[in-house]
Amino acid sequence: MKKILVVGAGGQIGSELVPYLRSVYGSHNVVATDVRECKNLAEDGPFEVLDALNPTTMASVVARHNLDTIFNLVALLSAVGERNPQMAWGLNMGALLNALEVARQHSCAVFTPSSIGAFGPTSPKDGTPQDTIMQPTTIYGICKVTGELLSNYYTQKYGIDTRSLRFPGIISNKTLPGGGTTDYAVEIFYEAIRNGKYTCAVPSDVYMDMIYMPDALRAIVELMEADPAKLVHRNSFNVASMSFTPEIIAAEIRKHIPEFTMDYDIDPVKDQISRSWPNYLDDSCAREEWGWKPKWDLELTVADMLEAIRYKLGHNR
Ligand code: SER
Repeated sequence: MKKILVVGAGGQIGSELVPYLRSVYGSHNVVATDVRECKNLAEDGPFEVLDALNPTTMASVVARHNLDTIFNLVALLSAVGERNPQMAWGLNMGALLNALEVARQHSCAVFTPSSIGAFGPTSPKDGTPQDTIMQPTTIYGICKVTGELLSNYYTQKYGIDTRSLRFPGIISNKTLPGGGTTDYAVEIFYEAIRNGKYTCAVPSDVYMDMIYMPDALRAIVELMEADPAKLVHRNSFNVASMSFTPEIIAAEIRKHIPEFTMDYDIDPVKDQISRSWPNYLDDSCAREEWGWKPKWDLELTVADMLEAIRYKLGHNR
């Protein structure tokens, strides 16, 4: 992997993955694209406006820059997807199919994030295995399972090097996630610092896996650099680093902001989605096949997030 296209680079993952990839592979080797102009990504490397649903433009960017790897980060997340399932399917599957087709024509590798959302209420909830029942009940999860199968198909049928991670909720401090069920674990930090209180839309006792962005970025590059001969799986690997409920993260924040309070205004859609997802994943295949090992636990993540967001918001609270 030397010359990279990032599609959907302006979102939560892309806005941090692009600088990370540029630091590893060199700025000029990472072409960031998004449907909108992204000034921050255009400052230190190539950027182009690209509609991921247009295969001709995607192919022309790949050809012009002589790219060999595509990171397809385009996605409508779980909660927002339920408001417009047809649009979610069109965008999530359309972008992936285009990335796979362009990869087939130009011999590129493809990385696509999958999600804990690929599991559903019939999957084992605790220590959810790598290979198990996957019957998600959200359009987002249905797209993720389909995407995993389609990516594996392109590998079997056409020899395309496709790889993927089933990400938990990603905690980060640069760009906000947009419309996911796990977003509370990011929003809580901003509200704790701004107002000392937060109203949570997810039930107090629901466990979900989460990962801190630095671990997520490292996992992506480690997977893409892994020796293909060692990969039994490809699409997609369970990765986990911490699992908690809203009450548990609130208690951790209270260690730093003792007066922090949280109440609940449960969103029925997020309630149903969060209860259908695993409590925690078994990521032993990722550990065995390409050496995955998380570095950030809840305690370290909360301390780092509070420091970063205090700085970002200019608060000394
Ligand atoms: N963060 C995503 C969501 O909540 C899960 O992958 O939709």
